[in-house]
Amino acid sequence: MIVATKQLFAHAYGKYAIGAYNINNLEQIIGMFQGSIDSQAPFIIQLSKGARGYSDKAFLEAMIRTADSLYPEAIFAVHLDHGDEKTCYDCIDSGFYSSVMIDASHEDFEENIAITKRVVDRAHAVGISVEAELGMLGGVEEDINVDESHACLTDPEQAKEFVERTGCDSLACAIGTSHGAYKFSGGQGIHFNVVEAIQNNLPGFPLVMHGSSSVPQDEVERINAAGGVLKGAKGVDTAQYLPAAKLGVCKVNIDTDGRLVWTRVHREFFRDKPGDFDLRGPGKIFMAEYAKFIASRNELLGSAGQLESVRASLKA
Ligand code: G3H
Ligand code: 13P
Ligand code: ZN
Repeated sequence: MIVATKQLFAHAYGKYAIGAYNINNLEQIIGMFQGSIDSQAPFIIQLSKGARGYSDKAFLEAMIRTADSLYPEAIFAVHLDHGDEKTCYDCIDSGFYSSVMIDASHEDFEENIAITKRVVDRAHAVGISVEAELGMLGGVEEDINVDESHACLTDPEQAKEFVERTGCDSLACAIGTSHGAYKFSGGQGIHFNVVEAIQNNLPGFPLVMHGSSSVPQDEVERINAAGGVLKGAKGVDTAQYLPAAKLGVCKVNIDTDGRLVWTRVHREFFRDKPGDFDLRGPGKIFMAEYAKFIASRNELLGSAGQLESVRASLKA
């Protein structure tokens, strides 16, 4: 069942975080639904602009609708990840999305507010909620590459003003994480003092953590043992997910870790079966491994086991 993102946030706030996973293809969608049912967790499916262009967005929507009917137990929201203004309007007008993210964080403060406010007005007119971003994460996303030295943490005072002036429904904050497989080159981690200061300024307001992949070292080693070259890849400590959730982080974005599962499965498959050429062989293994991966993340985020309680809250 597709639900409003804010309904999931209302249930999770201060207790656990909802996993927001990016999808690009059929195998990921099946693995995500299976893993979420196995772990009895609500979840958020994220579609980036890149994913919407990889296959036509209509394919993704049709596959999600099909998964919804094949897994009637599932409770999830559909979200646009890192949207520009035009893509936000396309998603808002489609009527398919629970929420959109407008990412104008690369603009200056006033321009970020102006763009975000326009998207909020249009989204709220049709009951869709909006995630906005303030501050700048390092790493690569879509076609924007932010050098670590240009990344900047969210200013808690600005966060309050930004939310008040834009009317956005959740805020992606730069709190020390970055996109991709190479985070924390300087050995740093989540800046909990910044999260806490933002929560103090915005009590009860849902925060979002981007760049949350943990980049498991055993996964990196298996990829490298099967021909990959991922030197120095490092991610977020998963033990920090729940402490962040207690400070108001309701949505934790994970994409890179899923890509690592895909890479490991396919590299190992073709290393071990060099004569094989049936795509369904690695596809089947990937769907099962991705389901296990999603379930494991839901456990770490505290969303596992919440499904029936979320269902009850929706009826209340
Ligand atoms: O933060 C970006 C997400 O990892 C999506 O990546 O834009 O390559 O689909 P993508
Ligand atoms: P990772 O690259 O850490 O998986 O972050 C994904 C993300 O923030 C998607 O918006
Ligand atoms: Zn992101």
